[in-house]
Amino acid sequence: MEKSYIWSLPTRVFHSLFAVFILLAFLTDDDKLLNYHAVIGYSIFILLVFRVFWGLFGPKYSKFKDFPTGKKNVKEFLNNIFEENQKYLGHNPLASYVMIAMLVVVFLTIFTGVLAFGVQEGKGLVSFLNDTLFKDMKLFKEIHEVLANILIALIVAHVSGVMVDRFLHKKHQTLNSIVTGYKMTNESENIKLNIFQKLFALLMFIVFIGFLIFNLIEPKNVFIASKFEPIDYKTQNEVFVTECGSCHTLYPTQSFA
Ligand code: HEC
Repeated sequence: MEKSYIWSLPTRVFHSLFAVFILLAFLTDDDKLLNYHAVIGYSIFILLVFRVFWGLFGPKYSKFKDFPTGKKNVKEFLNNIFEENQKYLGHNPLASYVMIAMLVVVFLTIFTGVLAFGVQEGKGLVSFLNDTLFKDMKLFKEIHEVLANILIALIVAHVSGVMVDRFLHKKHQTLNSIVTGYKMTNESENIKLNIFQKLFALLMFIVFIGFLIFNLIEPKNVFIASKFEPIDYKTQNEVFVTECGSCHTLYPTQSFA
């Protein structure tokens, strides 16, 4: 068997960040952490933009057109699934479908998330949609939650696929390739990035890190700011805070307005 370089550094960095940030998005699914949840959502969008361009202009096997999605491929793959030797150096046909579904569902989840954030909370890019007509509308939040559940199902499918592959086709070392980029293959094949791809990946990485730093420095930016003025009850009505604050939630509070 030959050692082939299949997944470039940008592909692997994208994969880790995408996984970690989606996990963080689920962990910050809490009203108190909503602003963090939103920043994480926008960050995932930057990763998604990178992945779509990478799918169009990236290296071999990362390109969408190298995803073996045809009906014939699926059939052939399923017929030979127990064979130890696999002919797919990149994603196999089933994995390709899960991959594309994940990208689409993540996009829709972010889109409805931004809408729910604006309509229901009066925050972020579409905070102007929060007026008397819209603010009680729970539609976008509900769709957002349904999509998040579909995403969980896709993640389970993805991880199960990797496990099954590890069991059936261990010698190709697909799991290790997530970290190293190298797979064991029948023919040797090594991808190489051109200068345009390297610069684009670097630029997107800078935008991604830059966006996170920007949110640390400027937490009241257009992506998450509320259209409401925060009320500091402590300075405006101290008696209310000391007498009633222990039982009644004071809203909107300074801390997450
Ligand atoms: C020991 C806890 C506690 C403290 C302190 C407290 N409340 Fe309450 N308050 C409650 C509870 C419990 C209710 C009943 C909620 C219910 O019936 O749904 C309530 C109900 C109310 C309601 C009626 C709300 C409604 O929707 O009908 C008002 C108004 C209110 N409180 C004002 C105050 C004010 C003003 C203070 C401070 C002076 C205060 N409360 C302090 C526990 C507290």
